Amino acid sequence: MKPNTALLHYAEDPSDWQGAVNPPIYRTSLFCYDSCQQMIDAGEGKITHYSYTRSGNPTTHVLEEKIALLEHADGAVAFGSGMAAISTCLLAMVRSGDHVLLTNNAYGPVHRLCNHTLARFGVTTSYYKPGDAADLDANIPEHTRVIYLESPGSMTFEITDLRAVSAVARRRGIVTIIDNSWATPLYQNPIDLGIDLVVHTGSKYLGGHSDLVFGVAAGSRELIEQVHRQACELGGIISPEDAYLAIRGLRTLPVRLAQHQRSAMQIAAWLSEQPLVTDVLYPGLESFPGHALAASQMSGYSGVFTFKLQPKSREANMAFVDALLPLFRLGCSWGGFESLVIPAFGLDGSAYRVSIGLEDVEDLQNVLAGALDAYDAHS
Ligand SMILES: Cc1ncc(COP(=O)(O)O)c(C=O)c1O
Repeated sequence: MKPNTALLHYAEDPSDWQGAVNPPIYRTSLFCYDSCQQMIDAGEGKITHYSYTRSGNPTTHVLEEKIALLEHADGAVAFGSGMAAISTCLLAMVRSGDHVLLTNNAYGPVHRLCNHTLARFGVTTSYYKPGDAADLDANIPEHTRVIYLESPGSMTFEITDLRAVSAVARRRGIVTIIDNSWATPLYQNPIDLGIDLVVHTGSKYLGGHSDLVFGVAAGSRELIEQVHRQACELGGIISPEDAYLAIRGLRTLPVRLAQHQRSAMQIAAWLSEQPLVTDVLYPGLESFPGHALAASQMSGYSGVFTFKLQPKSREANMAFVDALLPLFRLGCSWGGFESLVIPAFGLDGSAYRVSIGLEDVEDLQNVLAGALDAYDAHS
């Protein structure tokens, strides 16, 4: 089944649900048994029977099956947030004395998780630059258990050579985990390139409506069973209601992403022609340094990118952002229906990350043009 069709129909059978065209929300903590024999058979794995929502729920299962199919994985586990997915995967893979090699462009709280929490349990962390992937072999400490990647990075959009990293990791018996939230499984399938585990913050494009926080992890049967066992112990699962909202968000992912991509491409190209703009960090632009590598491992580009302006005062930066606010929202998330802006390196940095939403692109461009005029008026 192709992805667009899968998002609508895969793992769903209305005849199981009185003909309901959407999966019911199984709002229950507990699933009880018809008989002692049924309980015994379920315990011995002879029949499939849900027992308790922390370990599995039919609504959540629909979401997990769809994600597994999209990520070309054997299985998936859904979580109450992207960080729950990331922390559970890391904790499932490491033990005291292990080392984690972390890309230096990883989402900030992942750095803190490694340097604070994992460090307390004797797990060490060091860093590599996404551009150094080809020379990684010589720089991997002996006891490295996990290489963690984020490609494209979600602030400055560096592209990591996924084939190169996974080849080294496989040879050395190291587990690779990638945050695939920016590209989504529609535009990048890391498992096909040799990566072991894929994690997402579903709070961005997968949910798509800025009304939901969730996460997912996908991988081989063996690894995902370990992740599932760890999830049952740590308990950071998604609620059935949120799993339903995630399924609903996923149904429109292909059309939303296509529009995000079209608008972002147009705005990024337009920005790169503006005299005040010194750089546009959008992997979809041919002028972007990582574009060729991106094109070799991705089939499309989503709508989040950063651009830099000729450096000016804090007042100029504030005037620029405030002039965007009739249409853009000021906030740090991304991937929703609404356009967002956030100063990429603080209010003195003259660099902005935007998440291009589903508004008419002419309206967005007009507001950006006005904000550039406001910036120009300041020193
Ligand atoms: C790239 C990236 N990964 C992971 C996360 C964490 O996801 P969540 O907020 O769903 O826990 C975020 C959140 O902003 C993110 O931007």
